[in-house]
Amino acid sequence: MNWWQKKSVYQIYPKSFLDTAGNGTGDLRGVIKKLDYIKSLGAGAIWLTPIYDSPQVDNGYDIADYTSIDPRFGTMADFDELISEAKARDIKIVMDLVFNHTSDRHAWFKESKSSRNNPKADWYIWRDEKTNWRSIFGGSAWEWCEERQQYYLHTFATAQPDLNWANPEVRQALYDAANFWNKRGVGGFRIDAIVYIKKPSEFKDGIVDSDDGLSSIHNIIAATDGILDYLREFKEKVFDGRDIFTVAEANGVKPENLSEWVGDNGVFDMLFEFSHVNIMFSNGVEIWHRSNLYKLSEWKKALSDSQNATRESWYPIYFENHDRPRSVNTFFPAGSDKILAAKALATILFTLRGTPFIYQGEELGFENAKFNSIDDYDDISTRGNYDLARADGLSDKQAMKFVQKFSRDNARTPMQWDTSKNAGFTSGKAWLPVHDDFTACNVEIQEKNPDSVLNFYRKLSKLRNSSDVLISGEYEELYPENEELYIFTRKSGDKKFMTIVNFTTHEVEMPAQILKGGKKVMGNYSDEKNYLRATEATIYEF
Ligand code: NOJ
Repeated sequence: MNWWQKKSVYQIYPKSFLDTAGNGTGDLRGVIKKLDYIKSLGAGAIWLTPIYDSPQVDNGYDIADYTSIDPRFGTMADFDELISEAKARDIKIVMDLVFNHTSDRHAWFKESKSSRNNPKADWYIWRDEKTNWRSIFGGSAWEWCEERQQYYLHTFATAQPDLNWANPEVRQALYDAANFWNKRGVGGFRIDAIVYIKKPSEFKDGIVDSDDGLSSIHNIIAATDGILDYLREFKEKVFDGRDIFTVAEANGVKPENLSEWVGDNGVFDMLFEFSHVNIMFSNGVEIWHRSNLYKLSEWKKALSDSQNATRESWYPIYFENHDRPRSVNTFFPAGSDKILAAKALATILFTLRGTPFIYQGEELGFENAKFNSIDDYDDISTRGNYDLARADGLSDKQAMKFVQKFSRDNARTPMQWDTSKNAGFTSGKAWLPVHDDFTACNVEIQEKNPDSVLNFYRKLSKLRNSSDVLISGEYEELYPENEELYIFTRKSGDKKFMTIVNFTTHEVEMPAQILKGGKKVMGNYSDEKNYLRATEATIYEF
């Protein structure tokens, strides 16, 4: 077993974590300050979303220099101190590699766009004609460049031009950038949007899939044949022979191809899958017409499929990250008690097979932001979708309804440390408003309460980190068709754990006999009944 299989990973969105400079934006010194807090959660690694120099059009996922630290987050000396202070606590720092695209302010792009025959002319994807591809953030995936008199391709925002991985010089420059961080002692990489790096050999229009006459770029370029040749080279030049882990975003990798992507014969250690978090989006309509209705059995199947597909490899378990609404508002029915719900999800997070990824604030049971005006939202994709929805005929009220439910800013509001001004996040003006529940929900209050969500996370983490069965035991789902309960076991030899979660807001009967010989080890209700109460989650040991 590797170190990263035995502990959890804590994801930090540095911009919203802790501001020590008073400028309203979190920074690396803020992360250093809170290392003991992260240690108290039992985490073995911290994944930092991008901290490189960036115009912040997409909050750092638009990188202007891969081997720098954005001054708003601190200096390289702060970063080195973070690595060594974290190491002293047995925590590794994991960097986010955003290699599908750069910022349009990157020196490489500035040179590439300057003429058709400069040395970097072929570092991005340039065409005389555009196709009908729609970018992931909406609108055409092609942008006209006056200077060069050509279009360039951008899978995401116009300010995020796609790199040309077909050019070996580009690939080498990216490997050099990653190895710069390897030399500084990072513990691994989270790899962004990697399924899009290889484009099809011919650029053809796709099938029009909505009123704008465009065709989703995702369906055209995700996991293009031959992508694994690039990824094998990437692995050989950057990951092989190092004590690090890799976890890549894998929207679009088919389960039957998984063995080529992860595990002993794969290119990465883990893949973030999307099926269980995108389940409410499966009806294919525009985001503003979507509901979050789905059957529990479908959600359980998504998780079980992933668990089963990674029996020979490893799985990153997650319910939240910086791109998703908060999990307590997403996976439980309206009317559920939010504290019980946060603990119930945590119970699943720590007892499935794989490495638990905790997203900042999840360990406190944070809820979605409640901004009433689109002007309070910062996220480029939220604002883009709001405009598209309005153009599609929705009123401000209707459009705000989906924004409040699905915006990525739901997860990006500042960390809530205490009851002081701005929840102790900043002494200045927070770059995104602090959630107005901060006086009731913050670290200081939860530290003191033995029954808090935070202390529940700590207990769960101790339980998992000290149990071989919970770390490596086999997963089996029971009663997959049950629409009220999620029940699964983890087994190794004659030892077994069972997790039972009631996803309803009412009492549910316990399926007969399953608890015979079992003893309750933890749960979000302190006592025990022979039925399950609303949102009850319990772990039994056999
Ligand atoms: C996935 C990242 O998680 C998201 O925040 C970003 O907008 C896109 N990739 C583009 O880099």
